[in-house]
Amino acid sequence: MLKKCLLLLLLLANLGFSQKELALIPQPTEIKSGEGNFVLNENTKILLTNSEFKNEIDLFNQFLKSSYGFELQITTNSKSPINTIEIQKDNTTNSSLENYKLNVSSSQIQIASKGNIGIFYAFQTLQQLLPVQKNNEIKILSVEIKDQPKYAWRGMHLDCARHFFPTDFVKKYIDYLAMYKFNTFHWHLTDDQGWRIEIKKYPKLTEIGAWRNGSMIGHYNDQKFDDKHYGGFYTQEEIKEIVAYASQRHITIVPEIEMPGHAVAALAAYPEYSCTGGPFEVGKIWGVLDDVFCVKDETFSFLENILTEVIALFPSEYIHIGGDECPKTRWKVCPHCQKRMKDENLKDEHELQSYFIQRIEKFVNNKGRKIIGWDEILEGGLAPNAAVMSWRGTEGGIAAAKQKHFVVMTPGSHCYFDHYQGEPKNEPIAIGGFTTVEKVYSFNPTPKELTSEEAKYILGAQANVWTEYIETPSHVEYMIFPRMLALSEVLWGTSNPEKYFDFQNRMIQHFDVLEAKDINYSKSIFEVTTKVKPSEKGNGILFELKSANNSNKIRYTTDGSNPTAKSLQYSNPIAVTKSQTIKAAYFENEKQKSASVEQAFTFNKATGKKITLVHPPHENYSIGGALTLVDGIKANRSKLGKDWLGFSGKDLIATIDLEKKENINKISISTLSSEGSWIHYPKSIEILVSTDGKNFQSLKQISAEEIKSAKGELVIPVTNKKAQFIKIIALNTGKIPDGMAGAGSNAWLFVDEIGIE
Ligand code: ACM
Ligand code: ZN
Repeated sequence: MLKKCLLLLLLLANLGFSQKELALIPQPTEIKSGEGNFVLNENTKILLTNSEFKNEIDLFNQFLKSSYGFELQITTNSKSPINTIEIQKDNTTNSSLENYKLNVSSSQIQIASKGNIGIFYAFQTLQQLLPVQKNNEIKILSVEIKDQPKYAWRGMHLDCARHFFPTDFVKKYIDYLAMYKFNTFHWHLTDDQGWRIEIKKYPKLTEIGAWRNGSMIGHYNDQKFDDKHYGGFYTQEEIKEIVAYASQRHITIVPEIEMPGHAVAALAAYPEYSCTGGPFEVGKIWGVLDDVFCVKDETFSFLENILTEVIALFPSEYIHIGGDECPKTRWKVCPHCQKRMKDENLKDEHELQSYFIQRIEKFVNNKGRKIIGWDEILEGGLAPNAAVMSWRGTEGGIAAAKQKHFVVMTPGSHCYFDHYQGEPKNEPIAIGGFTTVEKVYSFNPTPKELTSEEAKYILGAQANVWTEYIETPSHVEYMIFPRMLALSEVLWGTSNPEKYFDFQNRMIQHFDVLEAKDINYSKSIFEVTTKVKPSEKGNGILFELKSANNSNKIRYTTDGSNPTAKSLQYSNPIAVTKSQTIKAAYFENEKQKSASVEQAFTFNKATGKKITLVHPPHENYSIGGALTLVDGIKANRSKLGKDWLGFSGKDLIATIDLEKKENINKISISTLSSEGSWIHYPKSIEILVSTDGKNFQSLKQISAEEIKSAKGELVIPVTNKKAQFIKIIALNTGKIPDGMAGAGSNAWLFVDEIGIE
């Protein structure tokens, strides 16, 4: 009997803490499991002492109806609380409107908050506690939750300019944000490739600006285009409907109207607001285009009239005015712009950009709103009340917070959901980068560099979904799920990167919810991920394989054949000491569960040898560190994922120690050019050798022309030289010249595999 009781207790304890039932995302700030469970059925009533929360109850009822086929009646008669969901207005604390309490006991559910937002979040949590599939009974485990978010700006962005997404999908996107307690939707509505918002005063913006006569196909590097008429726009009626839809779900829409750059679609419709007068066609090519708004008075009247209509449609505190990637090429030779600089005593075109933004800010402030812009608005002086969206790293955000300006963090390294999330070889084409769920989960929106006073200026963070390479709603879903679950927990303030696997276990349970809703999500966490490590013995490298669930269930081959359930079982990193191809996949019960990963290694004298760099690579392109250059893996030239090292504005100065004197006959190195992505070949490469690591002898100087004619794949013959140390200096071209994408910004230098034979 005692044994039986113990067993029962164990079972109950297991149930009480069962992950299955409490897979909440974002994890609430306080959660206590109770005993027993509440059974929700058609007789359950919503008990309400005032009718303030009708909107939230309606939304919950819609959810119940679509999931289980019934709705709950509302009663204000509080004779018996049994079998009710009681909604209380919480007047007892001075808590914020987003705080809520949720208590589930076996007889009743109580939710409480000061206002509608908290009640809405309580219902979102309750929805996550309900079973995904309707079984015989809808049971909810007893639990006590007290919850509140850390950050005020919990954002997701969507670029509807590069590709247009219909209103139904925009609403779905808003639903997704609501499910995970995001509260801000940054709607990117205008860009070079399309103007997507109806402006009554300027009908040509959508008649002409919403349509382009072709788009890029494949990656930018391929420079291929189709000639399809492509476009679409949102009418003001549709926008009102979407704003109302979002507002019911306590989501603020922040519209973005890009200026002074990324404006070619507008200029195609109204070329008179450019510097040259045009004509222009709506952009077909991705990247950064030179034609931008001219800084003359007529342009300001035009933009102010547009903003007047935008402000009337969107009640948000902030209006996003873009401000990023504005080439100064046209301004430098435009008489209007040059006259403006002279009249206003502006020392350069950065100050002219700052003048532009400040003038727009004044207009927006006079309308009772604030501007937010990408971090380039710091250049030439920040507008007095502007908030900054930090995207080129966190540095812009840090600088702004130190100047007491509000900041939203969206650094490319953690928040660009247009980057690859799994092994690039297995993923649909993306712009580049490598941002896994785990990486997103490790993000801290508040940089350590800030004092606690400065940290108050960090409003929060946001993920950006740029859609050059994302054409369909289902592909958008794939890029945001499940990464947005990780970000939601970061923003709620309950993430703990050291407990990533706890998060991942909860996340895997949410996959059932996503499947029930027919959401296309990425399963890249099941994928076998790979990492190259230096071998301790100094011969070759170690190839580490990992799978989210259990790395011991990976099977692999080293002879090029496809892995099967009978192949070698993975246990420790595989030593690679010769050229070979390793293939691996995850197996469960003898069945292959992941796509197979394949890695070819080209072994040479440099592979796995000690390599040092004078300048570290940029954090966006540095995953494998310096070893990336000698890991035996040649980077993929069209999928700019994790195989390249990227240096922003800096040179590559690498020294390889071969550990003993070797005969050297050939040295190879790869570098890349993708000018639309600001990636430029180095302006020269120098090879030096040494026998002692101190005195280097220059062996070869390779010019820009030679690099270009070899298409970045350099193979340099050396006449039988003996050396232990090889130094390679590849000089970054520095600032991008006028007339090119990203003019004035730092060029990227991309390098990979250095081979020594
Ligand atoms: C940006 O990604 N150009 C803000
Ligand atoms: Zn001009």
